Amino acid sequence: MSTIDDKKQDQANSQHEYDDFTNEKLLAGHEFDGIRELDNQLPPWLKYLFYGSIIFAASYLTLVFVFEDENIIQAKEYQNEMAAFIEDEEAAEEDETAAPVIRTQEEIMASGQATFSKICSVCHGKFGEGLVGPNFTDEYWIHGGSRDNMHEVITTGVIEKGMISYKNILTENQIQDVITYIQSLQGTNPPNQKAPEGEKYVPESEEETAS
Ligand code: HEC
Repeated sequence: MSTIDDKKQDQANSQHEYDDFTNEKLLAGHEFDGIRELDNQLPPWLKYLFYGSIIFAASYLTLVFVFEDENIIQAKEYQNEMAAFIEDEEAAEEDETAAPVIRTQEEIMASGQATFSKICSVCHGKFGEGLVGPNFTDEYWIHGGSRDNMHEVITTGVIEKGMISYKNILTENQIQDVITYIQSLQGTNPPNQKAPEGEKYVPESEEETAS
């Protein structure tokens, strides 16, 4: 059929009017400021995009409201993450509180000695007799001989003398263990001792030397 016939037919049904120049269908009732809208088909790509978005929306809504998919619902994802985090925290806390109870004095000493031989002996001597760093076997201490004093030096370091901070290198347990080990060196009298440095330290109580 020719366009002219179409036009006649349509106009007869009074459904459409036609653009005077292009002869294309106009959408009835869509006029603004003398501009009229053509009644054209949407281009296929747009149409399928539109259908596609409907299908996507339908499946998305199904996942959210019917299956309550955890990967889509952020609130759920958040809850799960938080629950996992709290669980981890609790597990870690349990570890921390459980550790000193389970570990024996031998294990603490072994751990302390391992750290000492691996890291500290280079400067403090194989037997703690002192080398670059001070002697640990005498009663003299530059920064004080209590566990707290040692802890302070080990975690803060005395960087200008070459003693770095081990805060991020050793765990708190390892630090406590190596302090216990250092305390055990007291009075061992190894050969080639470095001369005493600092002040004589007298433990305030028996507890200070025991760990
Ligand atoms: C690179 C050398 C070096 C290493 C490695 C080193 N230290 Fe030291 N350390 C020093 C020096 C030097 C001093 C003395 C600091 C000063 O004169 O104030 C010192 C001081 C100390 C003191 C204080 C001693 C005192 O008389 O008050 C403690 C405790 C100590 N170190 C523990 C450790 C432990 C534990 C390790 C191993 C984890 C370690 N150091 C590794 C060089 C070292």
